[in-house]
Amino acid sequence: MDMIKEEKAIRVLLKERRSFPPLASFAENALISGAKARARLQVAGRRDPEKFWAVAASAISWFKPWRKILSWKAPHAKWFVGGKLNLAHNCLDRHLDGATRNKAAIIWEGETGEVRTLTYLQLHREVSRFANALKTLGVKRGDRVAIYLPLVPEAAIAMLACARIGAVHSVVFAGFSAEALRERVNDAGAKVIVTADGGWRKGGVVRLKDAVDEALKVGAPTVKSVVVLKRTNTDISFMEKRDHWWHRIVSNVTTDCPAAALDSEHPLFILYTSGSTGKPKGVLHSTGGYLVQTAWTTKNVFDLREKDVYWCTADVGWVTGHSYVVYGPLACGATIFMYEGAPMYPRPDRFWEMIERHQISIFYTAPTAIRAFMRVGDEHPRKWNLTSLRLLGTVGEPINPEAWSWYKTVIGDDRCPIVDTWWQTETGAILISALPGATATKPGSATLPLPGIDADVVDKKGNPVPLGSGGYLVIRRPWPSMLRTIWGDDARFREQYWSQIPGVYFTGDGARRDKDGYFWILGRIDDVLNVSGHRLSTMEIESALVAHPTVAEAAVVGRPDELQGQAISAFVTLKGSTPPTLELKDVLREHVSRVIGAIARPADVRFTDALPKTRSGKIMRRLLREIASGGAVRGDVTTLEDFSILAKLQQSEE
Ligand code: WT7
Repeated sequence: MDMIKEEKAIRVLLKERRSFPPLASFAENALISGAKARARLQVAGRRDPEKFWAVAASAISWFKPWRKILSWKAPHAKWFVGGKLNLAHNCLDRHLDGATRNKAAIIWEGETGEVRTLTYLQLHREVSRFANALKTLGVKRGDRVAIYLPLVPEAAIAMLACARIGAVHSVVFAGFSAEALRERVNDAGAKVIVTADGGWRKGGVVRLKDAVDEALKVGAPTVKSVVVLKRTNTDISFMEKRDHWWHRIVSNVTTDCPAAALDSEHPLFILYTSGSTGKPKGVLHSTGGYLVQTAWTTKNVFDLREKDVYWCTADVGWVTGHSYVVYGPLACGATIFMYEGAPMYPRPDRFWEMIERHQISIFYTAPTAIRAFMRVGDEHPRKWNLTSLRLLGTVGEPINPEAWSWYKTVIGDDRCPIVDTWWQTETGAILISALPGATATKPGSATLPLPGIDADVVDKKGNPVPLGSGGYLVIRRPWPSMLRTIWGDDARFREQYWSQIPGVYFTGDGARRDKDGYFWILGRIDDVLNVSGHRLSTMEIESALVAHPTVAEAAVVGRPDELQGQAISAFVTLKGSTPPTLELKDVLREHVSRVIGAIARPADVRFTDALPKTRSGKIMRRLLREIASGGAVRGDVTTLEDFSILAKLQQSEE
C-alpha cells in the first residue's frame, strides 16, 4: 500500500469530506427511494443473499426453473442450478409481445454522422439471421467465436447471435494489434473471427481485416472462417472459402432461429483482461447468474425507465460494453444509444450535441473522459441543451473530486445524481455503487456495496481493518455474475483470486472505509496499470519492449497523470553499443503500440545503463515509480540516467 499512499490523487481523496444526500426531486420518483428502502434491501441481502438473488432472478424469463439457487464448492460457484434459459431470448424475444416490440432497441450514430435505429423486432430478426449464418459456418454450441469489430450495431448483433445458439463469444477490442488478437484467438481456440473491412477513428480508417489477415498468417490454426462486415469500403484482400462477407451470408438464411435452451451455467463469453503476469487472462462468464445480476444492476443503479435513452460510452471490447451497453440494458427493454467514434471528433462538443439531438437521459462514462472534457472548457457543453439528462454514472477508475464536481454541475446542472460504480471484468456486474434515489454520495467514493454483496476491506490475513485505515478490497461471498474460471487455466483462477487471502475473493484493489462505512477505492495494488480506465499489465508491456532487437532489459511502471489517471513510464537498457537517441524512444513507443495496441504506448521511455535492483536481483519498482512521478525528464533526454546511487540509498527499504 505504500506506493499508492504517496500519490497526490490519493491525498486529495483522503481529504474529501463533502456528502450530498440523494436529491429530493429525484428520490421522490426513484425505483428505490430513500435510505430506508436501501437499508431494507441491504438487510434482506445480508440475511439471506441467496433468496435476495432468487427474487432478482424472477425478473428473468426461464425456459425451465432452477432447482437450487447456489451450489458453492469454493472457489467454484454455480447459480440457479438446473435452470434453463437463453440470454438473447431475454434481450429480444420476450420484449416482442407488448409495446416494446416497436421501440428502438439501438440508436446508433456513426463517426461519419449517419444514424441507424433498430427496433426490438428488427434487432431480433438481424440477430436470428446472423445466428443462422454462424450455423452455416459450422458453429455449434460451446464453440468460440472471436469478435473484432468497431462499435457498430453488428457488434451487438454478433454477440447476441452467439448467445442465441450457445456459442461462446470472445470480443477483442478493435484497438488491439494483430498480435494481441492472435494471442487471444489462439487461447480461446476460436473457430470463427467476425470482423470488418475497417472502422472509423478520428476521420481515418482502422484497417481491421488487415490485422486479421496478419494474425492468421502468423498462425491461428483453429480459425476456419472469417466474416467481414463492410463498413468503410476499404480495399481488402479476400480469401475465397475462408472469408465471407457479412451481407452475403445473412442473405442466404432465414430469420427463423429458435433460442437454444441453455443451462444456467452454460459459458456465455470469454473476455481477456490484463493480470500481473504477461499473459492476458481469459475471464469466463456464464449465462444465468450473469444475466440476473447485470439486469438487476442496470435497472436499479441507473433507475432505468420505459422512456429513457441510455448511453454508456464504453466500447463492446471491454466488459462495460458487454454488461452495460448490450446485455443489461437490452434485458431491461431499454433504448440504448451507441456512438462509433472518438469522443471529441470532429469537434470537442460532439458528445453534448448528440445528447441533445438524441435526448439522452442516462449517461455513463469514465473519469478520464470527464477530465478531458473539463480541460477543453465549459463552453462546449454550455452550447447545448442537456436538460434531457437525469442521471450520470462513472466507472473504470477512482474519480477525483474535482472532476466529480464538474460533472455534477456543468453536465448534470446539479439536478442529476451521480453513481460512481465500482466493479471489474471479473465481477461481471457492478458490486459497489450508490442507488441514486437512496444513497448519499461523496465525491470520489463508490459509496456502499449493493444489496446481496458482501464486500470488506481487510489486512493480508483477511482480518477486517478498522474503519479509516487502508487495506485490501475483498468480496466474502460468491455473487451471481462472478467469473467462473480463467479459460483453460483453473489453477491461475484459484491462485489469483482465491488464494491471496484465504477464503475470500481478492480484487487486487486497495481501499479504505470511512467512519460511515463508505468505500474509497485507492487503486490497484499489483503490477496492473489503469490508463484512461483501461487495464494494462506492466509485464505485457515489458515483454513487448524486450522483443525489440535494441532492448536488453525493460521495466514499466505507472506514474500519476492528470488526464489518464496513470501514464506508462518505461525504463530501458539498450543492447551493446546501441546509441540512446530521441528517435529510438519514438521507435520503441511505436513498437509497443504495434505489438499490443495504441492504448499500451508508453508516455515516456527513459534510457538507463542499468535498472536499479535489490541484492536479490528484483527490480526496484517503487524507486522507479518515484523517479517516474518526479515529473520532468532531464533536459537532455538522451543521456543515460544513472540510478545506481538512488538505488543504493533505497536498498534497505525495498
Ligand atoms: C479495475 C477493473 C469495470 C469496468 C471497467 C474496468 C478500477 C473500476 C472503479 C471505480 C475506482 C475503479 C479498479 C478495478 N475501477 N471501477 N468506480 N472506482 N476504481 O474494468 O478493466 O476489469 O478494471 O478498474 O481498479 O479493479 P477492468
